Amino acid sequence: MGQESPRSRGLAWWQREAFYEVYPRSFQDSDGDGVGDLRGLLQRLDYLAQLGVGAVWLTPFYPSPQRDFGYDVSDYCEVDPTMGTRADFDRLVAEAHRRGLRVVVDLVANHTSSEHPWFVQSRTSRTNPKRDWYVWRDPAPDGGPPNNWLSFFGGPAWTFDAASGQYYLHQFLPEQPDLNYRDPEVVEAMVQVVRFWLDRGVDGFRLDAAWLLVEDASFRDEPPNPTWRPGMRERDRLLHPYTEDQPETHEVLRQFRAVLDEYQDRGPVLIGEVYLPVPQLVRYYGSPDRPECHFPFNFALVELPPERWNATEVRRLVDSYEAALPPWAWPSWVLGNHDRPRVATRLGEEGSRLAHMLLLTLRGTPTLYYGDELGMVDGSIPPDRVRDRAGFREWGGRWSRDAARTPMQWDATAHAGFTTGEPWLPVNPDASWRHVAAQEQDGRSFLNLVRRLLRLRRAHPALVAGRYVPVGAPPGVLAYRREVEGEVLLVALNFAETPARLAAGGYVLLSTHLDREGLERDLELRPREGLVVAPYAEAR
Ligand code: NOJ
Repeated sequence: MGQESPRSRGLAWWQREAFYEVYPRSFQDSDGDGVGDLRGLLQRLDYLAQLGVGAVWLTPFYPSPQRDFGYDVSDYCEVDPTMGTRADFDRLVAEAHRRGLRVVVDLVANHTSSEHPWFVQSRTSRTNPKRDWYVWRDPAPDGGPPNNWLSFFGGPAWTFDAASGQYYLHQFLPEQPDLNYRDPEVVEAMVQVVRFWLDRGVDGFRLDAAWLLVEDASFRDEPPNPTWRPGMRERDRLLHPYTEDQPETHEVLRQFRAVLDEYQDRGPVLIGEVYLPVPQLVRYYGSPDRPECHFPFNFALVELPPERWNATEVRRLVDSYEAALPPWAWPSWVLGNHDRPRVATRLGEEGSRLAHMLLLTLRGTPTLYYGDELGMVDGSIPPDRVRDRAGFREWGGRWSRDAARTPMQWDATAHAGFTTGEPWLPVNPDASWRHVAAQEQDGRSFLNLVRRLLRLRRAHPALVAGRYVPVGAPPGVLAYRREVEGEVLLVALNFAETPARLAAGGYVLLSTHLDREGLERDLELRPREGLVVAPYAEAR
């Protein structure tokens, strides 16, 4: 599976391939109920293979009351009936593999659904054997929550259970009680889940909320955040030294990783969802002899505010990340996901084209978000159609995650070809012209840019295995070389609204405008244009 050139030999598949996140509810519906499903995704595997990605990350498809659209799991080893069956999943994996695509699934380990049998048992009494599988605490002396911890989705991170007279912890919704990873039985139970899916042929896991698995053992109050301002997330009124990034979390990650490493023939990957500053983030690799994640997602480009999206800031961000990575740690880059505004909304279409050239030419594994390859923008969801109440609360009602989860735009038929029924979220109005079918016909479309970039990555080992070497460039331009034995490529990205000239020449392999290729003595960049160039030897 995958392609290996001599110079990228020695790299693992998850280092060579680009990943593509599919939010299955929104990708392709096969049965007309308005919700995407596994059979729908199966129908679209050829599209993904032609796009040129090498791995699909599927967000949760497990049985769930859908309070957080699958991130509230009630059975870790089954498929939700709206998504299909286990047989559908098996077929999906087999067909993906047949096309050279790997399949990575979500591991929602931090919490279960409150309807999961483990929690149902846990809450029956203080002496139930599963009581300790969750985080239960007595009320504070005034009867209120045990401490001041806050939930991501608004309000306290504690909910009172009248029947047993204690509070339980939930970093997310009350319907998502946190598992207690201080209990070895919980670790073991999740290890069984990991084995279950590995035995079914998956190629790895994206570990949800990886930096939140364990909390402070003495339940100390979190201190106020002096930089909190109105408009910021409610939870960020506090700093989080006791609910995030606890040392014991790393021990759990090591145990998960050890299980993956037993499956060496397939080399499954463990990717951590970790929203932390780079110095803390890099600890989620573990160490060579005590490895944790193969890589934690690096959300630096997602978190960079649009007003700071310029050559200087991006250069600083890339260079500081490169500098912070231990020599053996493999980088990761992401532009968007199902929890954040879409990149084309943040940066506009041209900005997003440039961002994709950056994503696909930086050193490290890139992860694309479905629809971003078309320049899809956030949907505007009328209040009565908002389904993501949780995320709506997280963003203080200014935005809901639904906006980034609207149906994939396939063609000009009803509902953009996503469903024959009523889609669970409204299709974006621009779907009448912004869709896969149209962009396949247009040689300069966003889709063709992403395809060309992915093809370029596969054809040029420097883009996969090469060192990252920043080079000087005029103001507004970010330039770097990727260098491997026998090959050097130059990437130049003009973030500015004005043209720029580079003191270099060479063979232009690709422009974000898709209208230029060939030898050029002096490289002129148009506003918001990016180039990948095979430079003249003397220009290096
Ligand atoms: C991160 C997931 O990406 C998000 O969608 C979810 O709401 C939380 N974790 C809780 O599982």
